[in-house]
Amino acid sequence: MEIELLVIHREGDAMFDWILPEKHAIAILKKDHATVKELFARFEKAKSRSPKNKIIDQAIAALKIHAILEEELFYPTVRAHVGSKLMNEADEEHHVAKVLIAELDRNRSKNDHYYAKFTVLAESVRHHIKEEENEMLPKAKELDIDFEALGQKMLDRKKQLEKDGIPPDAEHAMIAAAHGKEDSPAAAAKQRKSYRKATASSRSGEARNPKSHAS
Ligand SMILES: [Fe+2]
Repeated sequence: MEIELLVIHREGDAMFDWILPEKHAIAILKKDHATVKELFARFEKAKSRSPKNKIIDQAIAALKIHAILEEELFYPTVRAHVGSKLMNEADEEHHVAKVLIAELDRNRSKNDHYYAKFTVLAESVRHHIKEEENEMLPKAKELDIDFEALGQKMLDRKKQLEKDGIPPDAEHAMIAAAHGKEDSPAAAAKQRKSYRKATASSRSGEARNPKSHAS
């Protein structure tokens, strides 16, 4: 019963988040969430490559800035109160999204995998947003801190990132080091199959002619 009441309270609470001041940190995050969700919906409706590519560029740019604001400013402020379980999950979800973003940034040919990858990114980010809005943000909101001052810091950082660009991250370095080998498990499986065939035929050759390697 207590749990039910808590859920009702939190849902009711979230319903009124739209009346938060514009510079409230949670209002800023929710506005960003609405922007990327709108871009994902537009991507799904887009029929040709040109609008799809444009939407992907916009979504990636928005997600990169949003992730930095959360990681540098919002997450550290609320971590202790929200608890490490939820915060660590959020952190790992950011990592996965950043790996996909790094792969999308690298895929300049924009082949079919490019769109599949973006679809997976959108699904993963939608899940992440749901968890943030249903669990993390209501919990964070209990904190007695100046959320507008935090929001102002986030807006300042956003301006700076828009002006100076996004700093390099570990996920981009990781994907660059893989030289595209990570890109398609299906292609990798085909390669493994031909490698296994080649190894098997060289072994059977050796078995037929055991002296061929004796020297
Ligand atoms: Fe996030």
